[in-house]
Amino acid sequence: MPTKRRSAASATVPPLSPSAASAPPVENDRFGEDWWRRGVVYQVYPRSFADSNDDGVGDLPGLIEKLDYLNDGTEHSLGVDALWLSPIHPSPGFDVGYDVADYDAIDPVFGIMDDFDRLVAESHRRGIRLMLDLVMNHTSSAHRWFEESRRDPTGPYGDWYLWRDGHAGPLGRRLPPNNWKSFFGGSAWTWDDLRGQFYMHTFLPEQPDVNWRNPAVREAMLTMVRGWLDRGVDGFRLDVFNAFFKDAELRSNPRRWLGRRPYNRQVHLYDKDQPELLDFLAEFRALVDTYPATMTVGELFSTDPALAVKLSAPRHLVFDWWLLNQPWEADGFARAAHVHEEMFRDSGWPSVVMANHDQSRQASRLAPKADARTSDEVARAAAVLNLTLRGTPFLYYGEEIGARNVPVPWDEIIDPPARRGGRLVRRLVPWWNRDQARSPMPWGGGGPNGGFSTGRPWLRMAPDAETRNVAVQDKDPGSVLNAYRRLLWLRRRHPALQLGTYRRVATRSSDVLVFERATTDETIVVALNFGSAERSFGIRSSRRWRTLFDTHDPAAPDRPRIAEGGELTLRPRQAMIILGV
Ligand code: NOJ
Repeated sequence: MPTKRRSAASATVPPLSPSAASAPPVENDRFGEDWWRRGVVYQVYPRSFADSNDDGVGDLPGLIEKLDYLNDGTEHSLGVDALWLSPIHPSPGFDVGYDVADYDAIDPVFGIMDDFDRLVAESHRRGIRLMLDLVMNHTSSAHRWFEESRRDPTGPYGDWYLWRDGHAGPLGRRLPPNNWKSFFGGSAWTWDDLRGQFYMHTFLPEQPDVNWRNPAVREAMLTMVRGWLDRGVDGFRLDVFNAFFKDAELRSNPRRWLGRRPYNRQVHLYDKDQPELLDFLAEFRALVDTYPATMTVGELFSTDPALAVKLSAPRHLVFDWWLLNQPWEADGFARAAHVHEEMFRDSGWPSVVMANHDQSRQASRLAPKADARTSDEVARAAAVLNLTLRGTPFLYYGEEIGARNVPVPWDEIIDPPARRGGRLVRRLVPWWNRDQARSPMPWGGGGPNGGFSTGRPWLRMAPDAETRNVAVQDKDPGSVLNAYRRLLWLRRRHPALQLGTYRRVATRSSDVLVFERATTDETIVVALNFGSAERSFGIRSSRRWRTLFDTHDPAAPDRPRIAEGGELTLRPRQAMIILGV
């Protein structure tokens, strides 16, 4: 079993605390160094996952209690290989944690550093790797660096953010230095009275962008990264990493005429995607690579396949949005898979992402008006896609029970961009309220609030939390949860589903997607019927096939129902995985 050796580099930099020096090795892992390619990453939104102290907010001790649910080494657990935690650092919460006030600490709402060390140890004991979310494009405005930078322009932090004087406008008004817009609405520049200058923010004014051209910023970030690696972290997700560098001269973006929101009515030539990023990535990767079996994934803040490939590197994946934007149609998913295949044909490795904390719940997006039964059928079929398309699957917490979006009334909305501008602006320029996909995990088992907490949950629970929860689905062999468990373990047993080539198999029906995953030793066919009527397709009858998985039959009989002449019939929203024998 491979154990994790600490790098020589770690000896030269003091760890975050003395205990960090003894970061525990990963035991019982299934795939060793190759876990990031063959395994499955589960995204935890910590506030909503598991609440150990009944204050209504999830925390690290709660997560530790649920590690056996995630992987206890048996097929009764999900059997995931890694966890990615959305930010757990102290934060005033303007962007619910994506505004970090101290990169080196744990937000007390989640616990203390000892809890984190225990989480590393307990995860590693179960063969689960741990990935943190690195939000390095911006800090919180409450970060000490920003406070110092505002206070003392000539001091050591004076140049750590993007400060500019702006221009004099009519009637003594001050105008921002250029036309850049904030992604969350309004100008990307906010005037600061204390410093007497504008500062730049891609997101909220409470999230000032750091100045990546300043070597001191770079060094501070890398020291922080090294600190977490020394503490036993196995990888990172990089928030909006292609926005780190801005044009050195801060030139205005060209305008475009189309686009609903002001941000979309610009060509973002100068406020992201600058060539200097490649140099930083190389430096970042060189550091991370000194720690064996680590992996990073960058969140692409653009929809550009060529860029996703360019920014990929060995053991560095890039999230792109091809699968997330597909409606429930065979052709759409086939096209998205094709784009991935084209993109990553020669280099890089795809990620398979169908939901996350910024997007609609999968079942609501793919089956917006469905009743519970249809919704669950779509959720099971979508799970098949998520776990069998070529690439590393990322699975967002709650998807495994077929969670749907939870409507949140206006006066309870927490998500900042959804609140900004008030009701009227919201009606005119609708912003997807991300709270809807962040509701607390219903564990069930009898307690109040779907078993999440006896305290008032920080966000409202799903209305069906008493019936759609882990305890209820655990007992139902046909549940979405048990479908995920079977699929995840199937994936773990079959190299073709992890590393095999992808080839679309032509079918007569536009409702059916069939593809093959193959290694030299095994051929697996995955077939999905997206339609609401029975559909048949031809399958090579020269070969015998064994059913490995069937969304409509938890007991998956060994022999698929292949009629004479090699026809296989799928019921509405049925997906099957079959193995050539
Ligand atoms: C992308 C994150 O996924 C999102 O949740 C956040 O609001 C922005 N980056 C800003 O950090």
